[in-house]
Formats: sequence, structure tokens, C-alpha cells
Amino acid sequence: MSVYESAVRPLLFRLDAERAHNLTLAASELGGRSDFVRRAAGRAFTLRDPRLETTLAGLPVPNPLGLAAGFDKNARAVRMLGNLGFGHLEIGSVSADASDGNPKPRLFRVPQDEAIVVAYGVPNEGAQVVRERLAAPRRVPVGVNLVKTNDPARPATGPEVYEDYAASLVALQDRADYIALNLSCPNSAADKDFFDDLTRLDELLARLAQAEVRRPLILKLKPTRDAGVLREIVAIADGHPFVSGFAINLPSGKPADLRFTVARDSLEKLPGAVGGPPVEDFVNAILGTLKSITGDRYALIAAGGVTTAEAAYTKLQLGATAVQLYTGLVYHGPALVKQILSGLLALLERDGIADVRALS
Ligand SMILES: Cc1cc2nc3c(=O)[nH]c(=O)nc-3n(C[C@H](O)[C@H](O)[C@H](O)COP(=O)(O)O)c2cc1C
Repeated sequence: MSVYESAVRPLLFRLDAERAHNLTLAASELGGRSDFVRRAAGRAFTLRDPRLETTLAGLPVPNPLGLAAGFDKNARAVRMLGNLGFGHLEIGSVSADASDGNPKPRLFRVPQDEAIVVAYGVPNEGAQVVRERLAAPRRVPVGVNLVKTNDPARPATGPEVYEDYAASLVALQDRADYIALNLSCPNSAADKDFFDDLTRLDELLARLAQAEVRRPLILKLKPTRDAGVLREIVAIADGHPFVSGFAINLPSGKPADLRFTVARDSLEKLPGAVGGPPVEDFVNAILGTLKSITGDRYALIAAGGVTTAEAAYTKLQLGATAVQLYTGLVYHGPALVKQILSGLLALLERDGIADVRALS
């Protein structure tokens, strides 16, 4: 058991989940201001090994394990998070204007399944504030995840949505190593299905082309098992050469094919989408289909239930270029990153595979 699991988690889990998250983030931000703390964290949590090095959408990364969007929405803790052993960080989702998100409570733990139910509705401080914070130095590549401003009074309509993404892109891309577009925040009630009409995706990408996309662009898709839809999405991306890859978002609500041990009726009371092990198989099935469509033409970033080296390895074998995690950190703390990376090395050795690049 790590120090986090034995001493920190019990204290944090006494607090409301969002409060605990804010506290963790504030502590990381504070720790990140101190050279001493950053160096100590770097020594404790980093594992470097050439067999883990790879590239993500053309960016060299020290390992394929990244921090998923949502943990540090406003880039408050980039300096500290860069010392926790991740190969890259994805901050956001950030929108053009600041947003308060959904009413509280909007974050819940499901400890029986080591899961989180999230209904944040993308609260964030807006692109300009985040831009200022991203001037700070960083140790690993930082992707910035963009979303349309969540404003229930101004639900998604055509050009307004495209202008919102374009404004964020213009404000943030020169401070980002890659840009991810969150195309389906499962918790922005008015907006979550906007891109179901795929002509809108084409229109969005055309608008961003006018704004000049100067960083690798990753499309974080609403999850679907429909191979036809995935093929259409990839065909649209093919028409916009600045698209470098895809990621898969959480599904909205609690689809029947998520894997729970906890009783479903207790879950249905919690509003929001599920992160953590219950979504692992669901996301992996989509990842496999997406890989069969894209081949090696696109980077694939896969998150969903990565809490062990085996889970990360499975995603890499299915074709992920990089894997990300969020919920695992809540249950296992920062030592999880190194634990997964050393587990990945052991799995490569077991299978006689030279390095992670040979997996996807
Ligand atoms: C509390 C929470 C907040 C999240 N916020 C965002 C977000 O703002 N933007 C986004 O693209 N994904 C967001 N996600 C999704 C994660 O980036 C990730 O895709 C998902 O949680 C699956 O990984 P996990 O099972 O390791 O948590 C969020 C997830 C959680 C649990």
C-alpha cells in the first residue's frame, strides 16, 4: 500500500469528492512553486527507460502514459504534475469564456468499483486565464483540451459553436504542444449531441483551418460502437490534414454495457458519466474498431479504466499510441504512474517485445 492509499486517501475520502479534488489540486499548485518539492517529487515518481520512449502525434514523449483531461482544467498545477512521471499532460477542458459548470453536487465516488461519476459540465476559467498560466515552464509535453463554452442560456447552434472553438484555439495553441477537441462533453446537457450530425464536424474543422491550426490536433470523440460512424469520422478527418489523431470520451450516463459490481439502482441516482474500471471494456472495444479503420495513419489516445500496467498494456496492444488516466489517481495516488510504467517494462520483457513502440 502506498502512503497515499494508507494515509492520504482516507482523509480525502471523508470530504465531498469535489472538495477533495480542489484540495489536491491546490496542494499540487503550491508544491509546484517550490524547486525542492518538485525535485523531490521528480526523484520519487519518475521512471525513465528508453524502452518506454515513444512519439505522440510527432511529439517525443518519455513514456506513453499521460494525465487525462479534467484533472487540471485550468492549468494550475502543471509544474507539479510534470514531475509525477507522466509522459504528457492534457489540461482542460478549456472554453473560450469562463463557465461555472453544472450545479453541485456534481462529482461522486463509487468505491466498490473504484469509479467516479462526474457531472461537472466543464467548469473552467476560460481561455485567456489558462493562456497566462501556460507560460510556466514544463517538463513534458502539454496538450490543451478545448470545449465549447457551457452556457445553458446559449445552447449550441451552428457558427457560434465553431467560433467558440476557434477563439480558444487562437488563444491557446501557441502555448500547447497539441490541441484536443472535446466534441462531446457528456455533461453539457444542451451540447452533448451537437456533433452527431457529422457535417458539423466537417464545418468545425473547416473553420479551424481558417484560423490556422499550427499544432497536432486530436479529436476526442463521443464514444460509439457503430463502425460506420467511426469510418465517416475518419473520412472527414482525412480531408483536414492537420488532424493527427483521435481519443475516446466517456459515454453519457450509464450504458448497459458498463461493468459494475455495485447495484445499478444506486448508481442511477448519481447524475453524470462514469470514469474508471467500469468503462474499460467499453472503450477498448471502440479503440479496437478505430484502430482497424485508421491503421497507422493517426495517433490514438486511449483513456478509460487504466489502473494497472495490464490495463495500459492492453490498450497499447489494441493500437493506442498513448494511454491516459484520471480516476486511477483518485484511488491510488501519484505512485500509480511509476507502478504502471515499471509493470509495462515487466510485461514487455515477459513477451519478448523490445519497446512500447513495437506494441501499437
Ligand atoms: C472528474 C472527471 C472530469 C473530467 N473532465 C473532463 C474534461 O473536462 N474534458 C475531457 O475531455 N474529459 C474529461 N474527463 C474524461 C477523462 O479525460 C478520461 O477520458 C476518462 O475519465 C477516462 O479515464 P479514467 O477511467 O482513467 O478516468 C473527466 C473525467 C473525470 C473522472
